[in-house]
Amino acid sequence: MSVQPHPIDAVTQRAVPVAPPAAPSLAAAPSHAAPHIVVTGVDKVFPVPGGEVVALKDIDLTINRGEFVCLLGPSGCGKSTLLNAIAGFSHPTRGGITVDGTKVAEPGPDRGMVFQEYALFPWMSVAQNIAFGLEIKGMGRAAIEARVAELLEMLKLTEFRDRFPKDLSGGMRQRVAIARVLALDSPVMLMDEPFGALDALTRRSLQDELLRIWAATGKTIVFVTHSIEESIYLADRIVVLTYRPGTIKRDIRVELPRPRDSASAAFNALKRDLSALVTAEQHRFEEVEMKGLTTD
Ligand SMILES: Nc1ncnc2c1ncn2[C@@H]1O[C@H](COP(=O)(O)OP(=O)(O)OP(=O)(O)O)[C@@H](O)[C@H]1O
Ligand SMILES: [Mg+2]
Repeated sequence: MSVQPHPIDAVTQRAVPVAPPAAPSLAAAPSHAAPHIVVTGVDKVFPVPGGEVVALKDIDLTINRGEFVCLLGPSGCGKSTLLNAIAGFSHPTRGGITVDGTKVAEPGPDRGMVFQEYALFPWMSVAQNIAFGLEIKGMGRAAIEARVAELLEMLKLTEFRDRFPKDLSGGMRQRVAIARVLALDSPVMLMDEPFGALDALTRRSLQDELLRIWAATGKTIVFVTHSIEESIYLADRIVVLTYRPGTIKRDIRVELPRPRDSASAAFNALKRDLSALVTAEQHRFEEVEMKGLTTD
């Protein structure tokens, strides 16, 4: 796993701040030895009336076990299309994807997905929502109760266990959605703008919780966002996509020590560099969408 651990002071047991690298910016991501998700030569073409949309073109991407990778880009650049292909919800038109060496043909329990909309069962309580996947798996009642209690605790939901989704805030509902996916203990977590609808403070607190869970579990996380700041705060690597056709524009390793300080000079230098990359794609998006084009 390529987490940058803080050195711990032996006496105080506190994390020692690490000086940021002199030039944090756009270094290419080096390759590692333990690939988990491998995307090879993937194109995705959607037929549309009068033509086609090339959503993804020539995507080659290797994500290592335990890495936290953000897919970043403006609307329409193919972030969800790529995530859905890794999840097995849709198939590439060309090329292939493997997870742990096995070709992705359909969704599987090794890949949990958290969506932007809180995908909860409205008729079930918080605890029942979390327990659902475990019941499907055939886990025994006592083991389910123990696991649900643990997840409620982890996501600070214990006192809300008997509430229904309609009685929860957006942040709480998203906590439940994360707990549901964690319950299944998939080694891969796929997250499609999971915090996009939340206010800034709730978003930061869930980002911190996610980082804590990631550090504790060693899961591989692929996280879609169009927020540059969110990607720098979270990711080991940021994969910037181009607007139609979606190709990989840059694959950037974020070397900043954790927890990251979004006010630091190094954070802001990276933010400036990334903004230039993403803004160019945003302009292309605006040009195409303003012309009302639906085909490439
Ligand atoms: N089922 C579909 N049929 C036709 N075109 C589609 C389909 N799904 C996606 N597209 C097109 O493929 C392109 C990529 O879409 P995708 O949803 O992956 O973008 P995105 O980066 O996730 O955007 P957003 O940030 O708005 O969620 C877009 O131009 C979109 O209109
Ligand atoms: Mg999307």
